[in-house]
Amino acid sequence: MKVTIFGTGYVGLVTGACLAEMGNHVVCVDIDAGKVERLKKGEIPIYEPGLEPIVKRNHASGQLDFTTDPAPGIAHGQVVFIAVGTPPDEDGSADLKYVLSVARTIGEHIDRYTVVVNKSTVPVGTADRVRDAIAGELAKRGVAIEFDVVSNPEFLKEGDAVEDCLRPDRIIIGSSSERAIGVLRKLYAPFNRNHDRTVVMDERSAELTKYAANAMLATKISFMNEIANIAERVGADVELVRQGIGSDPRIGYAFIYPGAGYGGSCFPKDVQALERTARGVGYSARLLGAVESVNHDQKTKLFELIQRHFGGQIAGKTIALWGLAFKPNTDDMREASSRHLMEALWKAGAKVRAFDPEASHETHRIYGDRDDLVLCESAYQALDGADVLAIVTEWKAFRSPDFARIRDMLAEPAVFDGRNLYDPVAVEEAGLAYYGIGRGRSLRQ
Ligand code: UDX
Repeated sequence: MKVTIFGTGYVGLVTGACLAEMGNHVVCVDIDAGKVERLKKGEIPIYEPGLEPIVKRNHASGQLDFTTDPAPGIAHGQVVFIAVGTPPDEDGSADLKYVLSVARTIGEHIDRYTVVVNKSTVPVGTADRVRDAIAGELAKRGVAIEFDVVSNPEFLKEGDAVEDCLRPDRIIIGSSSERAIGVLRKLYAPFNRNHDRTVVMDERSAELTKYAANAMLATKISFMNEIANIAERVGADVELVRQGIGSDPRIGYAFIYPGAGYGGSCFPKDVQALERTARGVGYSARLLGAVESVNHDQKTKLFELIQRHFGGQIAGKTIALWGLAFKPNTDDMREASSRHLMEALWKAGAKVRAFDPEASHETHRIYGDRDDLVLCESAYQALDGADVLAIVTEWKAFRSPDFARIRDMLAEPAVFDGRNLYDPVAVEEAGLAYYGIGRGRSLRQ
């Protein structure tokens, strides 16, 4: 099929590459000329395992192309995806200006029946607004061209995006048009493994499904962080509690890891946006507010532990930081817990020596050159001249370090394990103080 995708961010680029991989002809449109040029040369603007070879291969074979010009893009596609950003505006609602601007552009150019697919995470009711925007342009042109708007949210995880896209758990098709549903069923047929993974529903339910999925996952995390905070105070170890409850299949082991809080481009934004949506229709979403507030506090948890360790005297200390990205296998720093920690440390007069396998460049882009931040080439280099070590992102490379070497390099050997990667006993036996999240045994009061 011929497919056009507006937006070459995570969602657009991965979707475009995977649809091309399945034999479709895909044109990706982006207003950023520099980005389009780089993509044409096979340079991928994001770190995403497995994406580069698919983009290069399909670009070389002519299945995948990039352009800044919307007109030929729209002329190309029977199916046109909208996969542009929906950043939060001042009050936390999703800002639809990019989505609606693409909708108007589509309305300016379509000349035959087109299925317009919303892939961006958008508030309930956006499909109607996109439909109105396109219809408005058609009316201005004085033409009557049929089109349908479908809500088809994505569930890609950064770091696993290609895998998630090629092998989805479910494909949500939100539409009340049989014609559009038929087109999307055909487009997604190769993605159904073993059984049909499509779930067809109306547009509003599809839009809400996306928010509900992310809010549910965020709720699991904040719930476990709350249990961790209780565990710490009652002298229990949340890691044992986690295993104890995860064994119940109704609860499950996934997404119940306590830690330094959730970040990224989705959870913080989507929980807030859903709360605003609820408020807008006269409902106060108390649970969502609590999920957000627990997460907010959790992001300063490591700072509090470090502060307590030093008796409040952090000024002049140097903290080694392992992990900057909001989670492993990405260079994404959006809403990353490391930012809250670093900013709190700097404010208190401490210095940071940080190492991340992928996110140093992005960190430098955000913070620039500053005296209180050294971005290191390796994990152990970060320990050079540091007082204590804090772990914020659970990269595999940090999972079994040489604790004796860490102890010898740190001025005041202590490990602040923001992702509960280590066995507190093993760390303490190696001669380091251990602080984790919700690990009552090691609480120093
Ligand atoms: C998420 C959803 O998983 C995905 O389905 C959706 O499409 C977009 O949002 P992503 O933002 O890539 O994906 O990250 P995810 O792997 O879900 O992790 C989000 C955050 O939660 C990370 O900061 C991670 O460290 C944290 N997390 C995750 C925990 O603190 N504990 C857990 O048990 C799981």
